[in-house]
Amino acid sequence: AMKVGILTGGGDCPGLNAVIRAAVKTGIARHGFEMLGIEDAFHGLVDLGYQSPHGNRWLTEMDVRGIQTRGGTILGTSNRGDPFHYVVKSESGKEIETDISDRVLENMHRIGLDAIISIGGDGSMRIAQRFFEKGMPIVGVPKTIDNDLGATDQTFGFDTAVCIATEAIDRLSDTAASHDRVMLVEVMGRDAGWIALHAGLAGGADAILIPEIPYRIDAIAKMIAQRSAAKQKYSIIVVSEGAKPLGGDRSIGETRAGAMPRLMGAGSRVAEGLRELVSADIRVTVLGHIQRGGPPSSFDRNLATRYGRAAADLVATKQFGRMVALRDGQIVTLPIADAIAKPKLVDPKSEMVETARALGTFFGDEP
Ligand code: F6P
Repeated sequence: AMKVGILTGGGDCPGLNAVIRAAVKTGIARHGFEMLGIEDAFHGLVDLGYQSPHGNRWLTEMDVRGIQTRGGTILGTSNRGDPFHYVVKSESGKEIETDISDRVLENMHRIGLDAIISIGGDGSMRIAQRFFEKGMPIVGVPKTIDNDLGATDQTFGFDTAVCIATEAIDRLSDTAASHDRVMLVEVMGRDAGWIALHAGLAGGADAILIPEIPYRIDAIAKMIAQRSAAKQKYSIIVVSEGAKPLGGDRSIGETRAGAMPRLMGAGSRVAEGLRELVSADIRVTVLGHIQRGGPPSSFDRNLATRYGRAAADLVATKQFGRMVALRDGQIVTLPIADAIAKPKLVDPKSEMVETARALGTFFGDEP
């Protein structure tokens, strides 16, 4: 029987467990694989003695029974997982980067694994591609709640995140209306405004600020004043964490997670600007990682399940170096190399943005 390892890398998102379940069930029942759950992304192949609460373990169908309903990942994921730039502590306690990819390959052979299914975002896909080039039989499953991968029409986890953000906007609208307040809701999406756009439209936000459409703080202040004059005394503004003012503002730091410490979140930054221009009472809510946990929506469960099954089939037919994707409603596969391209951003001219504008939603861009 083929021995197949499965791992999850990068930030978690609802639906990972559904992929694991589908790949394990399809692998065992359809293809007769033995399935090894690898802990904490490639970390589980770095040091075979390493034991976290998860642990590398051979998975049975019983082990994955019903897990599609749970957020997170039963396999754990990793924050320092890039084996080509692995962070270790030197004897002096300093953190240094080293390439341990050979060790990962060696350990893979030591365990007797014939293939790896890697579920991860663009970072993980880059790693998968490098391993593939080194001879590792590997297939990929794309993942991110941000929905910003160009290779696939939609990523699982996104729909759940949008539902959570929409519910938060609904709740905040109630309290904003009671107090005549301006409520800023900061949602995730470091490079792309997908979550902000979808949740903002669904929640009927008065303004949606996304990285793709730089905002002007004076324009937002004017919108609030106009609403107030029209006896609409409260406003809901959805702010993508990557939203930036027109012309940028280097002094406050970039929002890109990990790249530079985030000195001030996008929501607080807008609030600070508005406080100088409007008299309204302003509150900021940062949804943060709440958007990444909890049970996946039925859409995400099903997309993840279809991906998991397709990934197991890719291994069975030995189509390595490929990943699964959703295109026009169909599950397709493509070379991982082709998939690691530029992120898919919101097109400011898209029908969805136009629809929001038609309903009076402001994007902070007009004078
Ligand atoms: O890419 C997914 C994402 O949740 C982004 O929306 C967010 O900017 C980032 O990850 C947060 O990263 P971390 O979990 O490392 O704080």
